[in-house]
Amino acid sequence: MVRATELIATTTCGAVWDVAAPVFTARPKDRGLPSPRRTHADKATGPKNSFSTIREYQPRQRSMPNESASMLPALIPDWSDVDRATFLKEPLMFRHGLLETGAFSEEAMARLLETHPDHLTDVNINEIADDGTSRVRTGTRGGLSGDKMLDAIKAGRLWINLREAFTTDRGGSSIVSRFFAELEAHNPGLKTFHVYANLLLSGPQARVPYHADTPGVVLMHLAGRKRVWLYPNRDKFLADEAMEKVALKETTEDLPYDPAWDAEAFVADLTPGFGVTWPFNAPHRVDNLGTFNVSLSCEFMTWEARLRHGTYYTNGTLRRRFGVTPKPYLHTSPIGRVARFGASVAFKKLGINKARQAVYETEFDVGKGVTG
Ligand SMILES: [Fe+2]
Repeated sequence: MVRATELIATTTCGAVWDVAAPVFTARPKDRGLPSPRRTHADKATGPKNSFSTIREYQPRQRSMPNESASMLPALIPDWSDVDRATFLKEPLMFRHGLLETGAFSEEAMARLLETHPDHLTDVNINEIADDGTSRVRTGTRGGLSGDKMLDAIKAGRLWINLREAFTTDRGGSSIVSRFFAELEAHNPGLKTFHVYANLLLSGPQARVPYHADTPGVVLMHLAGRKRVWLYPNRDKFLADEAMEKVALKETTEDLPYDPAWDAEAFVADLTPGFGVTWPFNAPHRVDNLGTFNVSLSCEFMTWEARLRHGTYYTNGTLRRRFGVTPKPYLHTSPIGRVARFGASVAFKKLGINKARQAVYETEFDVGKGVTG
């Protein structure tokens, strides 16, 4: 989405999100959002800040247009005016109907684990220290059957990403196509493209380090319990130079992180049937809560995401190749962002940036029982 004016919304904790107009001027609790609720577990181990709470989902009035047009169950059964105004501007939890499709049974998972192409399958263990520093260990499936792979995942810290396991289709009848058609119908003006749906299967102790993604993300939870920590997409949480490294593919999406920032995070505890989404580039990290987890992570681009990426890409290029200190992203006007996007297209065509992302050596074989 290209918007004319960039404004700022303030959360209840004082954290500020980079958002596009229109934005709220009232705080979440003033706008009829579900009241934050802390669980016993959260009281014992969780964050202390009032914003860092777990949202208790309460269905709001359904407003799906043309709902009689299809006999299929809605994949987004509730989407209120508040959800519409919050989407892509602040973290947003919602209910989804993916489990009712029957496409995500354990049998289906096992089949996918066995047959999904190697080049689209990531087998990782993320080792994360108390200070947040992390190291990714990469492995292979080792010829295990799908059932045995599921057993291995359920045993520990494995994190499997079956990239593009679900896709859009030209006829628009696939689950992902239907989901995004509903998402666009609920959010007039939203136009998504480059949609990829990755199936994430992870063990009870699996964690994902602090990072930011270039595309938008809608994370729909299908099995188990996981905690998603979401941070504002600006200031100390998302330094320009760090995001430029991501745009230039000099690093994975991992970013510098300080555990003290947790006090200003939005915390979403996901259970099956619920999803969460957040503003573009908002840093996040994930802790599994002692259970085997399955989620569908849908990545998508919009023009707003494309302009963000293009701006960071151009700023990173200017900083490295031309010795220029670019204007910070947040101080760049909408017109300036369009110009930087145009420049990024030219820089890519000229090939003046070589991707320097680390190539990970395979360190373990799940078939040999090495799971960390
Ligand atoms: Fe992510």
